[in-house]
Amino acid sequence: MKSDEIILGIETSCDETAAAIVKNGTELLSNVVASQIESHKRFGGVVPEIASRHHVEQITIVIEEAMDQAGVTFEDLSAIAVTEGPGLVGALLVGVNSAKALALAHDIPLIAVHHIAGHIYANRLMTPMEFPLLSLVVSGGHTELIYMKEHGSYEVIGETRDDAAGEAYDKVARTLKLPYPGGPHIDKMAQEGSSSIELPRAWLEPDSLDFSFSGLKSAVINTLHNAKQRGEEINPNDLAASFQESVIDVLVEKTYRAAEAYEVKQVVVAGGVAANKGLRARLTERFDGTGIQLAIPPLWLCTDNAAMIAAAGSIEYNKGKRATMKLNGNPGLDLEAF
Ligand code: KG4
Ligand code: ZN
Repeated sequence: MKSDEIILGIETSCDETAAAIVKNGTELLSNVVASQIESHKRFGGVVPEIASRHHVEQITIVIEEAMDQAGVTFEDLSAIAVTEGPGLVGALLVGVNSAKALALAHDIPLIAVHHIAGHIYANRLMTPMEFPLLSLVVSGGHTELIYMKEHGSYEVIGETRDDAAGEAYDKVARTLKLPYPGGPHIDKMAQEGSSSIELPRAWLEPDSLDFSFSGLKSAVINTLHNAKQRGEEINPNDLAASFQESVIDVLVEKTYRAAEAYEVKQVVVAGGVAANKGLRARLTERFDGTGIQLAIPPLWLCTDNAAMIAAAGSIEYNKGKRATMKLNGNPGLDLEAF
């Protein structure tokens, strides 16, 4: 009987090859992330085939490194948790097949994890989770408000109808000729600009908790285009600040409305865009003094990593959920059905 629960997490859904070891669901023993960003930069986005090839090259090294840093062997592992989806299918397959091979060779239980559940559970490595809980998930592929009445239960109460918040950041960044991924660059420029340019906010129907960012993205493109036609200069920092303020106004207000309507005890923020300085500051301000606890992970836990997959895997493991050798990468995996 193993006294401690030790889980190896594996994540390869997009452009980070990652492995991590988590003890008893909350204690991080190691966290190794090999980023491919440099290889995708010159294409202005993630190229799926290049991503798969990098994962194949990196996965064994990254897993060994995570095991070494944590000082654990395969005999110590209680389970191997891997991202099943959503993500790029060829990329997911590398992680899933590695996890299956190791689980089979060493006779270790295999756990399938939803990538977004992972982003949410990154928070548990820092702060105990209090239910009912609301999670604002803002990443490159997702913008969702998720209600959780208990561990491992997910109800999507709001989501984007078009672009994800991160996607909007990346597209606007491309228009401004900034390198990929654009989010961090816009964030930085926004700190130096003033939000003096008028841009729309998509509130949608009065009670809607859904989001829409494609109109805002087009408005930014039009603003630049019109200025160019008139021969006028637009300060890119001001445009970044105005765009960022529009995104944040809607994200913060809808999160607050949802938190009140669903009477949650805690709001946890998750996903790559949670690294945004402006968003972090405005959420902190909005929830201050409301009695609703706000949790935002440190920057290194916001973007893709495997610690979050091991942490979410621990919940599934304790619920008795096990994946079989039939596990496959599932690019469209549904969180509510998970
Ligand atoms: O969660 P993540 O690492 O990958 C997905 O699962 O999508 O999120 C990546 C996204 C990218 O769109 C990136 O531009 C955005 O997160 N991002 C940011 C910031 N840091 C990363 N967006 C705004 N501000 C940031 N500081
Ligand atoms: Zn992600």
